[in-house]
Amino acid sequence: SRAITPPDIQARKGGVPLVCLTAYTTPIARLVDRHCDIVLVGDSVGMVLHGLPSTLGVTLDMMIMHAKAVRGGLEKALMVVDLPFGSYEESPEQAFRNAARLMAETGCAAVKLEGGEAMAATIQFLGARGIPVMAHIGLTPQAVNAFGGYRVQGRGEDAERIRRDAISVAQAGAFSVVLEKVPEQLARRITSEIGIPTIGIGASPACDGQILVSDDMLGLFSPFRPKFVKRYAELGDQAGAAIAAYADEVRKRRFPAAEHVFADAPKDADADAT
Ligand code: KIV
Ligand code: NA
Repeated sequence: SRAITPPDIQARKGGVPLVCLTAYTTPIARLVDRHCDIVLVGDSVGMVLHGLPSTLGVTLDMMIMHAKAVRGGLEKALMVVDLPFGSYEESPEQAFRNAARLMAETGCAAVKLEGGEAMAATIQFLGARGIPVMAHIGLTPQAVNAFGGYRVQGRGEDAERIRRDAISVAQAGAFSVVLEKVPEQLARRITSEIGIPTIGIGASPACDGQILVSDDMLGLFSPFRPKFVKRYAELGDQAGAAIAAYADEVRKRRFPAAEHVFADAPKDADADAT
């Protein structure tokens, strides 16, 4: 079966919810590919894997490296790669140059960028030149300094601003839009008003799809625990317990045991094969 394309995603507006997760590495990409419609190589990689304090320090080279790793694990899902902070905001031309490099070097079929009305001209420019764009509005983490934190966006009178952003990116030709950390009422309104799928993160089940950071929902990234993340596993706790057990066994000389040790002369074919 062929890979999912941006038009396939757009055509699923109002249908069975779109399932999306992030991946930064080949093994996680393989797992996500089996069950999801979209795999996002998010710039959250900077915080989750590189220990950066925000996504602002993520570079295009980092995104390319992780996207190449993810590409190797995908067969079916649509791969979308984030344009990092500073790689697209200056002009549509700058955005095209960097998005084209991402696509050429990683084989991704679409890019994601943060911003609504202010990015509409850029989204249109990319779309007209063969680059499908997923937009990202509401809480846009690359604007953390302008927002003064990671607060819910679009409450009360501020809803109109996010609504305009949604309409702008849809009119500009984005094939879908991530809605992050906005009230349910606003997410429902936007989802019914625009013709492209809304993909929510902290934006209620009213959206046309959902996305989470894989490491968050697997319990692998603990420094921060937003309300909108449901933990489907506690892999961080399991990894910690495994490492503690290894340390204990090494100190007590219980590991390695007889079955992990090589004899001078091979006893069976297996021993040298693995
Ligand atoms: O970088 C990221 O992981 C994202 C998603 C959470 C939407 O942008
Ligand atoms: Na991102």
